[in-house]
Amino acid sequence: MSAEQLYPVPQDFACNALIDDEQYQQMYQASIDDPEGFWAGQATRLSWMRPFRKVKRTSFDDHNVDINWFVDGHLNVSANCLDRHLAERGDQVAIIWEADEPGESRSITYRELHRDVCRFADVLKRQGVAQGDVVTIYMPMIPEAAVAMLACTRIGAVHSVVFAGFSPEALAGRILDCKSNLVITADEGRRGGRSIPLKVNVDEALTNPEIKSVERVIVVRRTGADIRWHEHRDRDYTVLMEQADDFCPPDPMDSEAPLFILYTSGSTGKPKGIMHTTAGYLLYAALTHQYVFDYQPGEVYWCTADIGWVTGHSYTLYGPLANGATTVMFEGIPNYPDVTRLAQIIDKHKVSILYTAPTAIRSMMALGKAAVEGADGSSLRLLGSVGEPINPEAWHWYYETVGQSRCPIVDTWWQTETGGILITPLPGATALKPGSATRPFFGVQPALVDNLGNVLEGATEGNLVLLDSWPGQSRSIWGDHERFVETYFKTFKGTYFTGDGARRDEDGYYWITGRVDDVLNVSGHRMGTAEVESALVAHRHVAEAAVVGVPHDLKGQGIYVYVTLIEGVEPSEQLRQELRQWVRREIGPIATPDCIQWAPGLPKTRSGKIMRRILRKIAVGEYEGLGDISTLAEPGVVEDLINEHRAMM
Ligand code: PRX
Repeated sequence: MSAEQLYPVPQDFACNALIDDEQYQQMYQASIDDPEGFWAGQATRLSWMRPFRKVKRTSFDDHNVDINWFVDGHLNVSANCLDRHLAERGDQVAIIWEADEPGESRSITYRELHRDVCRFADVLKRQGVAQGDVVTIYMPMIPEAAVAMLACTRIGAVHSVVFAGFSPEALAGRILDCKSNLVITADEGRRGGRSIPLKVNVDEALTNPEIKSVERVIVVRRTGADIRWHEHRDRDYTVLMEQADDFCPPDPMDSEAPLFILYTSGSTGKPKGIMHTTAGYLLYAALTHQYVFDYQPGEVYWCTADIGWVTGHSYTLYGPLANGATTVMFEGIPNYPDVTRLAQIIDKHKVSILYTAPTAIRSMMALGKAAVEGADGSSLRLLGSVGEPINPEAWHWYYETVGQSRCPIVDTWWQTETGGILITPLPGATALKPGSATRPFFGVQPALVDNLGNVLEGATEGNLVLLDSWPGQSRSIWGDHERFVETYFKTFKGTYFTGDGARRDEDGYYWITGRVDDVLNVSGHRMGTAEVESALVAHRHVAEAAVVGVPHDLKGQGIYVYVTLIEGVEPSEQLRQELRQWVRREIGPIATPDCIQWAPGLPKTRSGKIMRRILRKIAVGEYEGLGDISTLAEPGVVEDLINEHRAMM
């Protein structure tokens, strides 16, 4: 191990940590040697309404992918996150809400949250929502979003949260796919001092004539903006809550009852509805939240992720609440009203644990130490990172400037599909290496395979797969189990394929190198190249488009687009701007192309497959070493693209 890049567990951190290295080794081994015993032991951290009969019945066989945990058990997620805490910590704060504008915040105790969730669950029932119905939640980061999610779980409805930054078109596609009959939204959202017209977006999405399922839209008044009201369809959250009962019993749900759907991008086709189920997901979120963040009772914990992403589900909401933690929910963004916002919130609420994304870290780092100017920061004990590889420069800045060289950083690798963190340091156990997600969590068996699926041993690099199931794993793609099997279990048979590449060093530490498929990671947001391409070709002037990722200082990856216009349309700066706006409108601002290059033709194989390898190189100005281009249908297009790229730079 090269000493200069190794950060041992700080002595005073180790003294009070939940798990030290010896315990990690021993518990990890136990979880692999006897998964049934290990997970049966861990399952006692949940409250069950009926005991399960079998811990694990899982198969990764691509003819029969079938994943079941805690078979035949009954439990309720909201009861685990709320009811069981009431006796001991009913008056403890469950959610600290910090608004977009500094100076506005709210603290909600477990008792208050329980009452609101009961009331809203009653509202949902009165609106005709039944077990198994899908409820779409398109909301800003306000406590009512948490209430809505938990209320769904209370009555066994399946929530599908759609990130409030997605466009009406993207929202419509998701509603259509899961056939929601109810949408919960707000009049407007607030982010970075700006209003986001959520209700307008919902109205627009619902003009899609293919959507026939939606009967109700429940609207929370966040800003009081003047909005259009459809009497037959729209209902006011506050009015409904006033009419509801204070108590609604939690429904006993099967361990494998669907809990939520979350749409995420893949390398092909439209976003897929990743489905998670009840018991395994909750247990895994709770266990990882406690051990990865070394969460100790009474501490204030803050994950900055929006509830529109899986990180917001598992680590803003479900994990922390299942553990009876105090969790911060922040409506805004790190640089509003200025770059000190995160540091100010940390001081204001005495945050002990901060979990954020490299893109936020890099945007603060760009201004040197300004992000912590005037801040104290002494409440912090631990830092976390998620969503994309953290470059060592950002790691060091985070460690030194935010963590004051005192707080360990947990670089947590996982995915929407994995439900919770899979590869991560445990802060009291693991010596850190900047940029490495280090070692597997309990029960997780990563492996690296070559392109033929051969498992590679020792220090090496390859495709990252998982050899066996863990409780938090997604069970299926909503309505399309075939696609689930095809996407994750067919590439390397008998294993779950993550789509990521990784390196394992001589200490057995994992270093995630990024996606090996056609998925981009822009500011920690996953986006399929195919998705952006299909948005582009929907424009009347575009004949063809190819999208590749390029390195980007702040976003990690930027979106580089090659566009072939239809015959007779002239390229222009105006058209370029129009296409950028078009993609924003089709998908959302996060998908805005960083660069659009006109391409009279695209490099394709004779069978018509676009050779992205070549496009990726040209986009970064690497004109040499394009590899074998003799198999191209028209090798001449490469030279044209290089010339065009040169002219743009
Ligand atoms: O490529 C990996 C990257 O993000 C992908 C998962 O994206 P998503 O499903 O949106 O979930 C993001 C939050 C869990 C992974 O396939 N990724 C996530 N965390 C890390 C990471 N890459 C490197 N290091 C990480 N810590």
